[in-house]
Amino acid sequence: MKQKPTPCELLSKVDIFSSLDTESLELIAQKMTLVTYKKGDIICREGETGDRMFVIVSGEITVVKMGAEGVEVEITVLKPGEVAGVMSIFDKDVRSATLRVKNNAELLMLDKETFQHILSRNTELSNKLLAYLSRQLRAETYTVAKLLTGDVDKRVKVAFFDTKPYTESIFRELNKEKYALHFFEPRLNTNTVSLSSGFQVVCAFVNDDLSAPVLELLKRNKVELIAMRCAGYNNVDIECAHKLGISLTRVPAYSPNAVAEHAAALLLALNRKINRAYNRVREGNFSLNGLVGFDLYQKTAGVIGIGKIGKCLVNILRGFGMTVLGYDKYQDKDFAKAHELHYVELDELFSRSDIISLHAPLIPQTHHVINKSAIQKMKPGVVLVNTSRGALIDTTALINGLKSGKIGAAGLDVYEEEEEYFFEDLSDKIITDDTLARLMTFNNVIITSHQAFLTREALSEIARVTLESITLYNQGKRLAELPNAVLPKFKK
Ligand code: NAI
Repeated sequence: MKQKPTPCELLSKVDIFSSLDTESLELIAQKMTLVTYKKGDIICREGETGDRMFVIVSGEITVVKMGAEGVEVEITVLKPGEVAGVMSIFDKDVRSATLRVKNNAELLMLDKETFQHILSRNTELSNKLLAYLSRQLRAETYTVAKLLTGDVDKRVKVAFFDTKPYTESIFRELNKEKYALHFFEPRLNTNTVSLSSGFQVVCAFVNDDLSAPVLELLKRNKVELIAMRCAGYNNVDIECAHKLGISLTRVPAYSPNAVAEHAAALLLALNRKINRAYNRVREGNFSLNGLVGFDLYQKTAGVIGIGKIGKCLVNILRGFGMTVLGYDKYQDKDFAKAHELHYVELDELFSRSDIISLHAPLIPQTHHVINKSAIQKMKPGVVLVNTSRGALIDTTALINGLKSGKIGAAGLDVYEEEEEYFFEDLSDKIITDDTLARLMTFNNVIITSHQAFLTREALSEIARVTLESITLYNQGKRLAELPNAVLPKFKK
């Protein structure tokens, strides 16, 4: 036989108590009284003042209102788990309807005095209820304002976090008013998650916090889809999202050419010292001293990670007439043959390359793949380029290599501890990261702020794929049914 729900379970289903933990629910449940009513009994009458709330445990209650000319009108029938008179436990309330027992019923009853006694002794519980009520008030105020202006937007609402003007303009352009997009500048975290109230979809980026506490609050705000507008998802608790039934999508690939071309730009700028030449000429210094570079033609390049981006770079480097060596855990022999790429072991790549570019993902095996021992094996004056992930390089070893002259130049689009700095204008702040500050002092180091992906084509592809995921969600697809879904490992 089906067991009756416990008072605590019943309470947890009541909207205003839904944000409370089990301990708080128990506290209230203990103070509730179980009352029984017979068929036809009146629990309360329309127009009377009342100071108690009821949760129906068993039986059914008819809600009736006095209509025109004294005729009773049945409004609804309350069933087990439903609640009546909830606001009267905060303040005496005039009953808006009569409650009549349809068939024998058991109700859990809580009166205002008892409830206020519980509140006066439990600040934490009071705060949680207050927070819930203020969230509701904000959502309702928003809805009422919309209704008053006749501006009721039925479109799917999407909240973007950590947005920049370039994100907003491309999404607005491709969206063509199909979905209601709202762009929030702050990053998503426990302090900003309340902004997601009223949105079915959240669109997040690499530095947003999507850990379990944030996901739980998103769920409470009824967010159903998190559309990541990036490839990586190391900032998301995927298991938790899945458990909560929140769908998660990403953009697996956007423009490998964009990143490869940026790597080539860093290489050319470093080798031909464009940054220094540009500054000199602006100052009226037309001297060429110290600006000597080398021909890339017939030199040797080493590419670590021959995936989508690595392959684009191989093409570019072959175009310069370079010999290209590649290292990858998995070799694409057909590509190598077609593009005259020579797969070698890492040590050989280190010892033969005049320039080295990194395009492997950050995984435990590639963490600090460029370290002190790797640098020792490299050619003196080697040019190092990293557009992949900062932690592929041991930054201390890199600084030592630059100081000794072993490394001739370094082009870095990524940095191990970039989260605090990259993407932001901190020009009026002090840089407290001494390692980053030291790197910035070298005249043979160019740092860009994780911008390798930043081309119109890549942004457009990111927006297109993200909006496509939202369309599929809108068509009713959820979790694994979404083509770019991110699922927990055991679900793959
Ligand atoms: P991909 O998955 O197509 O290629 C990665 C390649 O690395 C694969 O061929 C894989 O076999 C190889 N690999 C795996 N383990 C390896 C190991 N232990 N040693 C050497 N190679 C290994 O990825 P894609 O699209 O080429 O991206 C590469 C990296 O570029 C990404 O992981 C990401 O970190 C970075 N990236 C940077 C961007 C930026 O704006 N700076 C933008 C997009 C990606």
